[in-house]
Amino acid sequence: MDRCPLVAGNWKMNGLIASLAEIAAMGTAYDLALKKKVELIICPPATLIGLALDVAMLNGIGLGGQDCHAAESGAHTGDISAEMLKDAGATYVILGHSERRADHGETDNIVRVKATAALRAGLKPIICVGETRHEREAGEALSVVGRQIEASLPGDAPGTIVVAYEPVWAIGTGLTPTLEDVAQMHAFARERIEARLGGGKSEDVRILYGGSVKPANARELMHVPNVDGALVGGASLTARDFMAIAEAY
Ligand code: G3H
Repeated sequence: MDRCPLVAGNWKMNGLIASLAEIAAMGTAYDLALKKKVELIICPPATLIGLALDVAMLNGIGLGGQDCHAAESGAHTGDISAEMLKDAGATYVILGHSERRADHGETDNIVRVKATAALRAGLKPIICVGETRHEREAGEALSVVGRQIEASLPGDAPGTIVVAYEPVWAIGTGLTPTLEDVAQMHAFARERIEARLGGGKSEDVRILYGGSVKPANARELMHVPNVDGALVGGASLTARDFMAIAEAY
């Protein structure tokens, strides 16, 4: 089992053309030694993927989308297909982020169908799961995440899948679970991924932790068993913070 850590930056609905300078600065800091230790990707808004391609690829930083439609093309105003993301230069796509589940009513079924579409297009889906504060306080965190994994992952995934555990209450709040809670959830997630995929395939799945990852806590989180990287929101917007997190791996 040799899972190269993945640090993914999710810019959410942030970033203008001027922000490409941050990706350029990340590229400058992503030296050979760091490239051997950690894979880096940035998921900017779709408007920037094509523009970021040259500077990102030149420096070995990958690009990802933040969502895709399940269909390859067609009458779906405002949507973007996995094939379009791939064509623009993305290699990953975030799916089922809790903000999309909340803002757009995305269910586990929708996430699974989108993940299948992403794999069809040759993209690597980063499938997000995580409990709300209410669910955690009710003692339902494990059962919620287990259900999300079972229903959101395609059972016969022909390509690379990444899973991101993001407790909803930790996103953008500065709060994080205890390291013991992270360890328990990631071990449980791997069990459930194995139950879903079978054949020992879960050993190849990277499980990222997301939710208020910062330079100050990245190192302790990376040492937690079964944490194979991070999905970073706010701290991925600047090269300084994002690269400090990458350096922790
Ligand atoms: O996708 C990233 C997560 O939602 C985490 O966001 O690092 O701003 O808490 P955050």
